[in-house]
Amino acid sequence: MLCSAGCNVAQLICKERNITLCRFARNLFNSGIPPPKLLVDELEDVLEADNQDWLASGLELLTEDLQSIAAGSPSIGGVLRLLVIYYLFFTRPNPFLACLDFYFLRPLADNTANKWKSSDFALREKLGGGNFGAAFEGLRVERGDRTISPRAKLTPEQKKRHETDGAFSRGSQWLVWKFESDATLGNALDGQLGSFPACLEIIKSILRQVLLGLQKLHDLGIVHRDVKPDNLLITTDGEVKIIDFGAAVDMCTGVNFNPLYGMLDPRYSPPEELVMPKNFPRAPTPVIATLLSPFAWIYGRPDLFDSYSVGVLLMQMAVPQLRTSANIKAFNNEMRQCGGNLSQWRDYRGSRIDFTLLDRNGKAGWDLATKLLKPRDKFNRGRLSVSQALAHRYFLPEF
Ligand SMILES: Nc1ncnc2c1ncn2[C@@H]1O[C@H](COP(=O)(O)OP(=O)(O)O)[C@@H](O)[C@H]1O
Ligand SMILES: [Mg+2]
Repeated sequence: MLCSAGCNVAQLICKERNITLCRFARNLFNSGIPPPKLLVDELEDVLEADNQDWLASGLELLTEDLQSIAAGSPSIGGVLRLLVIYYLFFTRPNPFLACLDFYFLRPLADNTANKWKSSDFALREKLGGGNFGAAFEGLRVERGDRTISPRAKLTPEQKKRHETDGAFSRGSQWLVWKFESDATLGNALDGQLGSFPACLEIIKSILRQVLLGLQKLHDLGIVHRDVKPDNLLITTDGEVKIIDFGAAVDMCTGVNFNPLYGMLDPRYSPPEELVMPKNFPRAPTPVIATLLSPFAWIYGRPDLFDSYSVGVLLMQMAVPQLRTSANIKAFNNEMRQCGGNLSQWRDYRGSRIDFTLLDRNGKAGWDLATKLLKPRDKFNRGRLSVSQALAHRYFLPEF
């Protein structure tokens, strides 16, 4: 993402300079001096001066606009100018970057990216099969290398699965990802990596990384919709990688967005079940969706869907009795019976549950969980966003 953002900026600078260059060349042509005689240094000086003039007068105008608003006598033009600037550059998701990404950078990347063939890979074990397709482990086969025989390394059980599930068939579409780790947070919670949480140092670090990853996604207008331990890989360096974007919705383009359709894991999904309110219209064409996305975001706060799943994740990691898959499912059902009120659930469960990890440091973890698991209010708000969760005192050093 950082790389694409860098490319965006570079493109913009080039464009701006080209426009100035054309205007400058035309001025020279009008004055009778042929452009080819120009020295590069002179050209640079004039270009910079031209840009500075433009920038300075723009800034002056905006300062005047702000001053007139502060003085209580705003002009319509000034307010409109400020609104346009706010809309284009400061809203989230950002329509300007979204347009660049969807209509320019994405086709560019599609055309320049490495084109793989099915013969470049040998499929191995099936790793999972969700609602959106199946995931397989694969080996890169070097072109022309006939010595490799991946099938020879498979167990009889894997060979059987490989024949039935793993064949590339004509017309099927495949996404190729780097293999990041063979352990998920689900494995860690099951105790397969040692006793939890000692095997992963601290819960806080995992939660923080998940929130940071989701913050980046939300800034781009993407809601993951399937945040859960099985979709969080843990690398040997203790890094957390969010995977499985099969259910993700891109609010900037409307991709995968159907307001009436929830693709849910009942253990981690919020009570409202949908990213946007039920009465929200279906996704329009991508360009309209892009232009309207900041308004849709402000109105529906789709990102709070993921916040709830993070709240369940915190409960599952911090409360030993909730670490098994069956118990976390029961927890979410019980929460619904308690009207989404975590304190009520605590009263109901009483002394059978160990809240030590949530209650330490002035109940910081408990407070965070309560605010992440709240039902939405009538304005589709009332629950912490991932950015607000990151600023919570739970992440401050303990003393
Ligand atoms: N990039 C990756 N690196 C390593 N393992 C992965 C990767 N992506 C997926 N997996 C493994 O494959 C499993 C299934 O993939 P996932 O994308 O979650 O699909 P689904 O849940 O829809 O079957 C994951 O639980 C994980 O074990
Ligand atoms: Mg998955």
